[in-house]
Amino acid sequence: MRLLHIDSSPLGGNSVSRELTQRVVAQWRATHPHSRVEHLDLAREAPSHLNLDSLGFRLGVNAEGLSDAQRQENELSEKLVSQFLAADVVVVGAPMYNFSVPSQLKAWIDRVAQAGRTFKYTEKGPVGLAAGKTVIVASSRGGMYSTNPALTSLDHQESYLKTVFGFFGITDVRFVRAEGVAMGEEAKQKALANADIEIKAAVTEAANDEAAALVA
Ligand SMILES: Cc1cc2nc3c(=O)[nH]c(=O)nc-3n(C[C@H](O)[C@H](O)[C@H](O)COP(=O)(O)O)c2cc1C
Repeated sequence: MRLLHIDSSPLGGNSVSRELTQRVVAQWRATHPHSRVEHLDLAREAPSHLNLDSLGFRLGVNAEGLSDAQRQENELSEKLVSQFLAADVVVVGAPMYNFSVPSQLKAWIDRVAQAGRTFKYTEKGPVGLAAGKTVIVASSRGGMYSTNPALTSLDHQESYLKTVFGFFGITDVRFVRAEGVAMGEEAKQKALANADIEIKAAVTEAANDEAAALVA
């Protein structure tokens, strides 16, 4: 089993989402001791924003016609999409930034969202090509969104990630979250304790679903 561990917060040791992804991975390792874990740190090695060179793969330019810069960008996009497709489980550290995700994470999504690799268009509409994975998103945010109906519509972070991974054909997308972390120390500790419960539940449920699928 291959687990891809992605972090996108630039805050290093002060990051809540990094703390959560570490806990998810530790929990996963405890139930799946033979997992192979690969870490992708997007704060340290984020792909650049898409530009004319990195969009080569979408423009359908054949390999011979590519410039050196386009070839290099294509290699990076190919490395990222292959790494993603090879993973059985993907753990994504996703802080909320300005109601959405950090641009480092968006830049990664832009590289792996490739027609013919993670999705395709058919006469009946888009079809995801990355089905069968489990994605666990470790979400951190300063305010409370999940419990306040008036704020739910402002969440373009979790809802966006659910949409993107769903577009790739992934139906097993689980969220563990620490929210309200900017609402005082007590609220932050409560959020972390709550996230801990969610992490144990998410990993246990994923393991149970996996076992049930093997028996079926
Ligand atoms: C640039 C920036 C933008 C943020 N935008 C929001 C926001 O829109 N809503 C919110 O509730 N919290 C927001 N926050 C708070 C973060 O979501 C919160 O601190 C979270 O813990 C960040 O994840 P991290 O600790 O893993 O870096 C923002 C923080 C930063 C640094």
